[in-house]
Amino acid sequence: MNKQYWPNQWIFILAAIGSAAGLGNLWRFPYLAFEHGGGAFLLALLVANIVIGIPLLALEVGLGQKMQKGAADALGAVKSGFRYVGWMALFFSFLVIAYYLVVVSWGVNYFFSSFNLAWGADTSGYFFENLLQISSGPTEIGGISLAVFVGLVIAWVGVYFTVWKGVKSISAVVKWSATLPFVILAILIVRAVTLPGAAAGLAQFFIPVWSALLDPQLWLAALSQVFFSLSLAFGIMIAYGSLKERHSNITTPVLWIVAGNFIVSVMSGVVIFGTLGHMAHAQGTALSEVIAGGPSLAFVVFPEALNLLPAFAGVAAVLFFGTFLALALDSAFSLVEALATSFKDRLKHMREERVAFWIAVVEFILGIVFTTFAGIYLLDIVDHFVVSYGLVVIGLLEAVIVGWVWKPDTLRNYINSVSSLKLGRWWNYAVRYVVPLFLLILLGLNIRNELQTPYEGYPVQSLLLFGVLPILLVPLVAFAVDKLSTPQSAQ
Ligand code: PHE
Repeated sequence: MNKQYWPNQWIFILAAIGSAAGLGNLWRFPYLAFEHGGGAFLLALLVANIVIGIPLLALEVGLGQKMQKGAADALGAVKSGFRYVGWMALFFSFLVIAYYLVVVSWGVNYFFSSFNLAWGADTSGYFFENLLQISSGPTEIGGISLAVFVGLVIAWVGVYFTVWKGVKSISAVVKWSATLPFVILAILIVRAVTLPGAAAGLAQFFIPVWSALLDPQLWLAALSQVFFSLSLAFGIMIAYGSLKERHSNITTPVLWIVAGNFIVSVMSGVVIFGTLGHMAHAQGTALSEVIAGGPSLAFVVFPEALNLLPAFAGVAAVLFFGTFLALALDSAFSLVEALATSFKDRLKHMREERVAFWIAVVEFILGIVFTTFAGIYLLDIVDHFVVSYGLVVIGLLEAVIVGWVWKPDTLRNYINSVSSLKLGRWWNYAVRYVVPLFLLILLGLNIRNELQTPYEGYPVQSLLLFGVLPILLVPLVAFAVDKLSTPQSAQ
């Protein structure tokens, strides 16, 4: 079977921006900016994008493109044992896919609720009680929320039919799903900045508190945000790179991806802050009283702000949740495609629809855990452990493999041989020293926080069962899957 490639660089760039731009931009970034000195955080994020984001993204895309393989076999081509690192990245993705689609399911529900602002005045009750039927804690599983379950089915049907024909179907989808958010966000910006009170909100977002730049926490937050937001260390960008032709330019697309992702963050920030500024104004409260991060921002606070819009509230709601869905879906299917690419490298006799189908079925079943009444707690726990440890360790290993074992010039020379914009020697230093150093500090601080207080005050047994255990199982699963899928002749 002939290998399929992205039809052109722009489609690759759109698919990568689609993966990168997601909930991290829409609900994580605005809150981080609010917490860390507004414009000061924006500046720190820009620096972190340049110092960490660009080098690592170039590394991943370059590695995938050079080896023409997904994460497992691309790292395995550097040195055979390193394929386990690739599989581990993919099995962290595997965990994330299961719950990410549940968040998409919430979005599906809210998209349908948008047309008549069905959440009503009690937006918190609507989200936590009506939709999630939330229990009192992670040990109270209770039952399944039917609405979330149905939303999950819809989400999976959407993701399956996007990835089922691999590059071909993905290309057709991202033309729309990765461009429309820019257009819709622009419309929402016009709505947001013309609201009374918007200026005060925007001032919070843009005006830098310079002293915040001296706070190490700001830099760590910016660093992990770049990591998460650019979808690094999940094997995604390696897989997407492997679908590029071997002689195609790497550095220019990487710059477009980083810039596009940053622009989505800033646009989201303007929409969120402008609208919340208006809400604070209408309620006569301070912005600090209404702002929140994470699910509450999109599903509780923002709907409340939408209720208060003087006109076109329904239209703004549909546009907002439409953007939410487009952004989240592109990220969701990129995770699935990362896994599918490595399986397809191995299971050459299997049709790609089959590979995607089985991934969807297994992940769907796993995801049911997160549709239970305790779902949001469990989701929070798994997410915390995978993002704080899994990703950081994989990023660290990637940098060490390319920077120390393989020697960075090997990859840099290849990247430069196909790119018009050359990577200077600074890239070697970034990969060898800067990235590993920052990631080690991040890892150390995360472990320290963990030992000081149980995450979010959850019962320790829940943290062990849903946070620590899956992380420990990943290396074992990686090993088993590698053994099972390696062709006998190659063993
Ligand atoms: N980059 C995505 C975001 O910002 C999150 C994500 C990371 C999604 C990794 C998939 C894989 O929302």
